Amino acid sequence: MKDLFSRRINYMRISITDLCNLRCQYCMPEEGICKKDHDDILSLEEIVEIVKAGAKLGIDKVRITGGEPLVRNGIVEFIQMISNIEGIKDIAITTNGILLPKYGQALKNAGLKRVNISIDSLKPGKYKEITRGGDLSKVLDGINEAIRLGLTPVKLNVVAIGGYNDDEIGDFIELTKDKPIDVRFIELMPIGEASEWGKDRFISNEDIKNKFIDLVPTETEPSSPAKYYKLPGGKGRVGFINPISNHFCGDCNRLRLTSDGKLKPCLHSNNEIDILEVARKNPERIYDVLKSAILSKPEKHDLYSEDHEESNRSMFQIGG
Ligand code: GTP
Ligand code: 5AD
Ligand code: SF4
Repeated sequence: MKDLFSRRINYMRISITDLCNLRCQYCMPEEGICKKDHDDILSLEEIVEIVKAGAKLGIDKVRITGGEPLVRNGIVEFIQMISNIEGIKDIAITTNGILLPKYGQALKNAGLKRVNISIDSLKPGKYKEITRGGDLSKVLDGINEAIRLGLTPVKLNVVAIGGYNDDEIGDFIELTKDKPIDVRFIELMPIGEASEWGKDRFISNEDIKNKFIDLVPTETEPSSPAKYYKLPGGKGRVGFINPISNHFCGDCNRLRLTSDGKLKPCLHSNNEIDILEVARKNPERIYDVLKSAILSKPEKHDLYSEDHEESNRSMFQIGG
């Protein structure tokens, strides 16, 4: 279905939990977060009903996010149910990769097509520091498992952090030389935990790109948040995601669903439409609610306008 600005909305991003097995310093509070009551989050079956209605409206691509989606019980069966829905062609997951060695094969068998993996350092000690305890070797195993299973191109999401991983940018870029890996540098967004934490740690993608002059522009899908480059002869790509710039609002094809049952027509807006009650009490209305959410998608985000309201959600609640 098209929205009011002739954009075809075919991509649903679904956050299935805000829990995570890591607590990255820019994302989660040190003490972690409280587990929500079952009644306050959508069941996986309810989400499947929402995706079925979405598929009737033209959604053909689904990305499962979190928190960390692989910590939700029933994830493999859930991917299977989504892949059985007529019209859904592409199912991807954004994960920290820790549980991929455990679930990768089962997820692939269930119909998963691709994974994006978050990794902010290639050094075990630094990785442990930023994630507050994460084991880098598990993520590296997860990346290799994803490649082995053909969940490709595997995309690595690297948040660029001043004084932390600015000395590793070249190492990340090197990974694209002979592996089918897209490495994407994400600018740190001043949202949630990162609003304070990130103040003196921002590095612009422009600065990174200017340092690595070997990179040559390569094809980029219009609705992609990343702009892609390549090393000459490289197998994978190097992408730059500036979540704040609005370079792709005009081609935005997304609708977001949070684990507590809110539809978010735009990442940067606090406008949310409740679908939890509808899914529970009037499931026959899901289709209409989705339709009106699509019709309420703003033309572009208003981050730079004077009346922009700060996001009242953190990244782990929206799913990126
Ligand atoms: P594919 O292009 O399908 O691989 O996925 P993706 O890049 O959309 O998904 P991923 O979950 O890996 O997102 C990576 C980063 O892109 C997130 O951290 C977000 O900051 C950013 N991003 C995702 N969706 C949007 C969006 O709608 N707008 C903007 N500005 N940034 C987004
Ligand atoms: N700024 C930029 N990226 C962030 N992510 C989480 N919080 C932020 C932030 N404040 C990233 C994660 C993951 C992706 C989905 O979003 O590292 O790779
Ligand atoms: Fe977990 Fe991702 Fe947040 Fe890190 S950035 S704490 S891996 S949800």
